[in-house]
Amino acid sequence: MRVTLVATAAADIPVDALAVPVATGQRLSGSALDLDRALGGLLSELLAGAEFKGRIHEVLPVPTHGRIAARRAILYGLGAIRDLDGQRLRSAHHELVRAARTYGYSRLALVRAEPLGLESLAGVVEGCVMGTFERRSRQTGAQPERGEIDELLLTGFGQGRDHEVAAAQESGEATNHAREWQNAPANELTPDVLAQEATKIAQRHGLEIEVLGPADLRAGGYNLLLGVASGSAQPARLIKLRHRGRQIAGTAAQEDGVVLALIGKGITFDTGGISLKDPASMSQMKADMAGAAAVLAAIDVIAARKLPLDVMAVIAATENMPGPTAQRPGDVVVSADGKTVEVLNTDAEGRLVLADALTHAIRNGATHLLDLATLTGAATIAIGHGATAAVSNDDEFWRLIEEAARTAGDRVWRLPILADYRVLLRSQIADLRNAEYGEAGAILGGMFIGEFARGRPWAHLDIAASSWNTNSELTTVLRGPSGAGTRLCIELAELMAGGAR
Ligand code: BES
Ligand code: MN
Ligand code: ZN
Repeated sequence: MRVTLVATAAADIPVDALAVPVATGQRLSGSALDLDRALGGLLSELLAGAEFKGRIHEVLPVPTHGRIAARRAILYGLGAIRDLDGQRLRSAHHELVRAARTYGYSRLALVRAEPLGLESLAGVVEGCVMGTFERRSRQTGAQPERGEIDELLLTGFGQGRDHEVAAAQESGEATNHAREWQNAPANELTPDVLAQEATKIAQRHGLEIEVLGPADLRAGGYNLLLGVASGSAQPARLIKLRHRGRQIAGTAAQEDGVVLALIGKGITFDTGGISLKDPASMSQMKADMAGAAAVLAAIDVIAARKLPLDVMAVIAATENMPGPTAQRPGDVVVSADGKTVEVLNTDAEGRLVLADALTHAIRNGATHLLDLATLTGAATIAIGHGATAAVSNDDEFWRLIEEAARTAGDRVWRLPILADYRVLLRSQIADLRNAEYGEAGAILGGMFIGEFARGRPWAHLDIAASSWNTNSELTTVLRGPSGAGTRLCIELAELMAGGAR
């Protein structure tokens, strides 16, 4: 999809359909009103008759009978203005584009009108690009359900903003890459294939890459990762990509030695191991590498933009399988950090592999740690699919993450780290236990990982719920794989590259 800013009056753009945003309870104004006049009041008539209400995801195509250059106008809803945050903005445009594709339009234009301000450009473009996502079909001879949009023209956003458009397109496409990886079945996307994907990204941008296999992991003492991997026939991979942005531009802000580590949980399939999961929804666990997907997609953009910030992506990739060589509940494992861990539940594997991944990032000079993981079912209980559940040990770092999340339309909500809960992580026979805390699962899962941050600013994003909405009633949150965390990571790197700390 080509995305272009134009200065043409909306009525004069010759496309299949011209999209007009409307919020609930709102009258047409500005360019939308001009358009309505050109159409002889057709749009305001539909609004007055309440045939179109402006609800989020409402989409109504209207024939134009040659009164304007576009063959159709499309009214599309933004919902209530006060609810319109970055995530809903993107969701509304995601749905607009999906509807346009269903109708078979290939040339689409969009006119900016109230309540969309000039600052909505990135969100509009990202949402539209995300709406082009189609999971790759593995059906033989299947015909695509929807068409493709070749061209998207945007009017009313001003000129000279091509760079912003290109950046938003990049972020939207990165989100879709993460979604595609999430969607890939586990027999296709093995730990080694994930490493190959990382290698492709590294080669594209000339990034440093290191892929550790079982022998290297043994040498480095990454026993938590190896323990999780021990039941699998697929060799584990600890993947590290390094973007040396400081060498690109040495501004004063970049001289403080900051190295941001984006750390992704890359469990390519989570059976639960010996603590086997219920079969009912186990197939969903092909997406237990959503954290890795987000981190990979993000560093691809960070490197492409040559951001003046040192960023590393660290991915702990393995399957979690049962079998004669699998680790057992009750096993005690020595982490790369030296702490001993009693593995009371082999299904709490994410925190184990992430602990070693944090140690790897720290050994390689990371100063700021952000991990992304489909860590707990408890995140769904605590918050649901509408936002990522988070914990952090550092208010300043958290403030940056929140700002990045807001800019990116990639919601996060911070849960507290309570000192009182630390006793719940203790084991009778080891330094830590990985499960059986009883309650506060999303917090304690995060707190376990935080034990390996060695006092560095760290935040943990539990994307278990936000990366894949399985609630069919929750229609305005992206359904299926969402690429949660991808745009947040890109925006965080942007902020920090700009000197924010
Ligand atoms: N990958 C799962 C968490 C998950 C659940 C992600 C549902 C996406 C959807 C994780 O490895 C896991 O199994 N967590 C356990 C932890 C428990 C044993 C402490 C859980 O949440 O049940
Ligand atoms: Mn698990
Ligand atoms: Zn898992």
